[in-house]
Amino acid sequence: MSDQNKDQVGTTGHKWDEDLEEYNNPLPKWWVWVFYITIIWGIGYTIAYPAWPMIERATPGLLGYSSRAEVAADIAAVDAANAPINARLEATELTEIEADADLNTYANNAGRAVFQTFCAQCHGSGAQGAKGYPNLLDDDWLWGGDIAAIHETVSYGIRNDQSDMARYSEMPAFGEILEEDEIDQVVNYVLALSGQAPNDATLVDAGEEVYLSSCAACHADDGSGDTDQGAPNLADAIWLYGGDYDTVKATVTNSRYGVMPAWDTRLSEAEIRAVAAYVHQLGGGQ
Ligand code: HEC
Ligand code: HEC
Repeated sequence: MSDQNKDQVGTTGHKWDEDLEEYNNPLPKWWVWVFYITIIWGIGYTIAYPAWPMIERATPGLLGYSSRAEVAADIAAVDAANAPINARLEATELTEIEADADLNTYANNAGRAVFQTFCAQCHGSGAQGAKGYPNLLDDDWLWGGDIAAIHETVSYGIRNDQSDMARYSEMPAFGEILEEDEIDQVVNYVLALSGQAPNDATLVDAGEEVYLSSCAACHADDGSGDTDQGAPNLADAIWLYGGDYDTVKATVTNSRYGVMPAWDTRLSEAEIRAVAAYVHQLGGGQ
């Protein structure tokens, strides 16, 4: 900028390194106007919409807008749009949902959403399960894998105190019932039964005796389990808590008590049916 310019606008008085000065150029007119307009807009906005925090809540705004009301209206609109298909889902026999292509597509999409929201924290987002939380992808079922059994499990849950109809059974803690050496015997037998090398092969025969008298009533003579009692199959390689010697010994000594919440109080019948259909079709449904 020339010295002539400096005479016109003056300087701010700031000066660096002897001769480096800051000119006092005015802001462009258009910029100043835009600035004033944003201030007016801002004040207008806080009058029209919820804005200033007060003790109880923010000022509501003249337009009466609320993002909560907007979400509630959106949800009501989706519910209303889905009402006919939800009614159809509730009216259709569980075993016939899969054959009805539209209904089945809807049930699977809705069921996936329910699963990700309410089930994934325990069963995993891919339904693969974790220690103590069964894998729902395989065809190994504690309480039964046909859609009616899954529907019942989801509706009332397992060993909870929320529902009178919850599935219930209890494996005794054998630490209080059997002698230590009997527990070692039966644990070795369970390892052999599931096709693993026992810790001490000489104990397996004695373990079979213990098994037949203390365990077979629930886990069946051949170890295949009993879905009426939620007793796992001990003869396969699939474990809920773990099949190594120490884990089986801990299960037998202290027992376990897997709890799953009831959902019939929290989800609609249509949502329960949707998630049951979704789980049934994940791969292991019977
Ligand atoms: C708080 C953890 C938790 C949540 C949440 C949960 N579950 Fe479970 N679920 C369990 C446990 C633990 C078991 C196994 C209980 C047992 O040992 O018998 C189980 C068992 C099941 C079974 C029976 C599996 C079998 O092999 O018979 C099904 C089906 C199931 N859950 C589906 C669901 C669905 C669907 C949801 C969501 C609506 C859900 N669960 C939410 C913990 C949970
Ligand atoms: C009253 C029925 C009952 C009896 C008797 C019983 N169990 Fe169980 N057992 C169950 C149930 C139910 C479970 C699942 C517990 C849970 O999920 O919380 C289970 C779980 C197990 C598991 C865990 C399996 C896994 O996948 O991790 C093992 C191992 C086991 N039992 C071994 C035995 C042995 C050995 C005996 C005999 C000494 C025995 N049980 C007696 C009902 C029984």
